[in-house]
Amino acid sequence: MNRTLPFQMSGKLIFGKGALEELPEAVRRIGAGKAFVVTDPGLVRAGIAEKLLGILSEADVSTALYDKVEPDPRIEVVWDCHEAARSSQCEVLIGLGGGSALDTAKVTAVLLGNSGDLQDYFGIDNIPHRGLPTVMIPTTAGTGSEVTPIAVLSDKQAQLKKGIVSDHLYADVALIDPELAVTLPPQVTAYTGVDALTHAIEAYTNKFAHPFIDTFALAAIQLIGRYLKRAVAEGSDLEARYHMAMASLYGGMCLGSVNTAAVHAMAYPLGGMFDVPHGMANALLLPYVMQFNLESCPERFARIADALGRPNGEFAAAPSAAASVDAVRELCSEVGIVSRLGDLDIPEESIDQMAAGALKVTRLMKNNPRAMTLQDVKTIYRAAY
Ligand SMILES: [Fe+2]
Repeated sequence: MNRTLPFQMSGKLIFGKGALEELPEAVRRIGAGKAFVVTDPGLVRAGIAEKLLGILSEADVSTALYDKVEPDPRIEVVWDCHEAARSSQCEVLIGLGGGSALDTAKVTAVLLGNSGDLQDYFGIDNIPHRGLPTVMIPTTAGTGSEVTPIAVLSDKQAQLKKGIVSDHLYADVALIDPELAVTLPPQVTAYTGVDALTHAIEAYTNKFAHPFIDTFALAAIQLIGRYLKRAVAEGSDLEARYHMAMASLYGGMCLGSVNTAAVHAMAYPLGGMFDVPHGMANALLLPYVMQFNLESCPERFARIADALGRPNGEFAAAPSAAASVDAVRELCSEVGIVSRLGDLDIPEESIDQMAAGALKVTRLMKNNPRAMTLQDVKTIYRAAY
């Protein structure tokens, strides 16, 4: 009750089956003419980029396409995208895809409105001005990037994933159409779904948790417990996709005000040094970090167990905190995430460097409900190995 809550999200939210049809109107309302669409080759192959371009051209909105976004995009990719966007003379950036495409579009848009170097923008509140208007259209249910002020890029030279946090990264429009996720492969559905779960759990058990954000976090946990398995098992299950899209949105809404903690900080070196996909890195670490954090807020972890629908024993009046760890482990294994760090070609000797890297992500580590020493971080990596 002693903390003031700042809360912000995208300027407008359009959510629902078939929402993509409302894109031309959304672009017009921004007052923009030519649209620059940022996506990845997978969405071109799946025909989703073409569908979007078709909807815009039918409504007489002219477009240009950039389809070279890679997973965990490098800084160089953003510059490449920026160069293409600048020469297209576009007036609005449309991000279409998972977190990588959306983050690339968000940073490209601010680069077009600023003259500085991208390297200066890493960290918190380092972007001087707002850039071009943006519409963010997620095709996965995980990152919540469409409603966050955050973009994460890979700095290959430094072997690090680096975050940019700025109010100027909020999209003008977040357009979420659960139908766009029906072709998403089971494995990506699982990883991205566990990413959303991690956002919610790390916000709910955060040192700076807030009752307003708690509501979204618990709702997300509940929906993921109920629908992730269905979305993974049957991609065309539109009801499951709908609720997972909602869960991802709720998870994203937790990030701007409260954000994540040690799981995400420890996942960064896995992505930066070994290209482990973000959702997978989270899934591998989440149960171990939860185990470490249990004692800091046991009643909250008990409520997570409850929300995931697995009370501790059939006759228990109330679930225990430890049941939340079991529930997460069980969910991860049911959606096919069973690897350990040691199965991923990550040498055990790297743990020291990974631990040092994770501790440097102070903007997230400071949020962890239980303070972590270097030794603690190493112990958790070893447990997950
Ligand atoms: Fe995440």
